[in-house]
Parts: sequence; C-alpha cells; structure tokens
Amino acid sequence: MKIGVFDSGIGGLNVLKELINQYPKLEYLYYGDTFYLPYGEKSKEELIKLGVRIIRFFEENHVDRIVIACGTCSSLVDEYQKYTKIPIDNVIDPTVEYVKKYYQKVALLATPATIKNGIFERKLKQEGIEVYPLSCPSFVPYLEGLSEQLDIEKELKSLQNNEYEAAVLGCTHYPLLKEEIERILLVPTIDMGKVLSETIELKESNASLTVYMSKVTPLLEQNVNKILEKDIPLIEKNLPV
Ligand code: DGL
Repeated sequence: MKIGVFDSGIGGLNVLKELINQYPKLEYLYYGDTFYLPYGEKSKEELIKLGVRIIRFFEENHVDRIVIACGTCSSLVDEYQKYTKIPIDNVIDPTVEYVKKYYQKVALLATPATIKNGIFERKLKQEGIEVYPLSCPSFVPYLEGLSEQLDIEKELKSLQNNEYEAAVLGCTHYPLLKEEIERILLVPTIDMGKVLSETIELKESNASLTVYMSKVTPLLEQNVNKILEKDIPLIEKNLPV
C-alpha cells in the first residue's frame, strides 16, 4: 500500500515517524511544503489551493491513501475530500475520539488559523469536552528556522492557571517542544501523530520512504535527519500553485 503524507514542513514528520513505527512495511511518500510555510497564518482559500496541488501530486504518484499530517489543514479535510476519490485521513478526528475517552477538560494549543476557524474546538465541545484554546504563533516559525525568537513561557502564560487535565498539541510541529510545554503547563500532552497511528488501519506491503520538500535548506536536512533518526535524501520539488 502506498501512502501520501503531507504538512507545511517538518511537523508532519512527527506523524510519519509514528506511522512508520506502527506500519514499517508501507510505501511512504512525504511532502513538506516548506516554500509556503507557515500554513498557520494562511487563509482557508490559500490552504485549499496549496493542499489541492499536493493531492494532485499524490494522485500522479498513485497513492492509495492520503494522511493530512497537519492540524491546520485537517480542519479542512471535508473540503479536500471533494477534490479526490483517494480516501483522506486527518489528525483532528482521531484526536477528538481519544480525548473523549480519557479527559473532560483540555487545553488546545494550535496555530492561529486552527484557533481562528474554531473547527477543532467545536468538534471537542460537541463531545462535551471543556476546551481552553490558545494560538501559539511563534512556535512554527521558530522550529522551521524562520525566526530566532521563542519565549514558550510567555506564549503559554494565559493558560497557566486553568484547570485542564491535559494539553492537546493541536499542531504537528508542537511535539518538538513537548518537554518544555509539559514542564510549564504541568499536565501531559497529547500527540496527534501517536493517536492517529494507533487507530488507523493500513495494509502492509513493501517498505520505502521518499521525502519531497518544496524548498530544501541545510537546516531542513539536519532537522529531517534528527526527527526521523536516519539519513534521508530530500528531493526538492516545488509544485505550481
Ligand atoms: N504542522 C502544521 C499544523 O499541524 C502547520 C504549521 C504551520 O505551517 O503553521 O498545524
């Protein structure tokens, strides 16, 4: 089975890694849209345009299934599904199911776009869960090397006195800051990639991994190797918008 996984950049690699752990014998195609990141600051229309060209790329490569390894784009899964017959999985729905099983009150840390469109929050609230949402605009630019500024404590300050039991890492980049976030908020965090990989059912076949990025830099190469814990050659491929 061939599976296409995409995100704006390195965040989705956290999801990919969990999928590979769970299903090592699959043909994985990863697309990181590093030329256009951060997705968390884009409008719904822009995100649809960017995502649809990645879906077309996966179609050309004959994938059997697509995983949106991005919280921001997962809010738009129903929109994306209108453009293709290939089944699309997202990270929000399994996370809502997981939270519902174990928690009543959660913090939701996510990108500005995810917090603004409110879909993730609404899905949690529909299940009776109390949600403390927080947009974290500096996390992704810092993790992708676009900015050197990161004051996690300051960014999380408004959440520190609330009574939530866990914090949902509602952007797939945030597991890279998991330890600091848990140290500051004093609650466990929920990793959407872990949740997805433990619930998704895939048919194993041959093992392979190809990683495409729309813009490759030496820092990106370092980050990819660090996250995946192996030396993966990156293929630069910028898809036309
Ligand atoms: N990793 C993505 C998410 O889960 C996108 C982050 C970004 O590019 O802003 O939301």
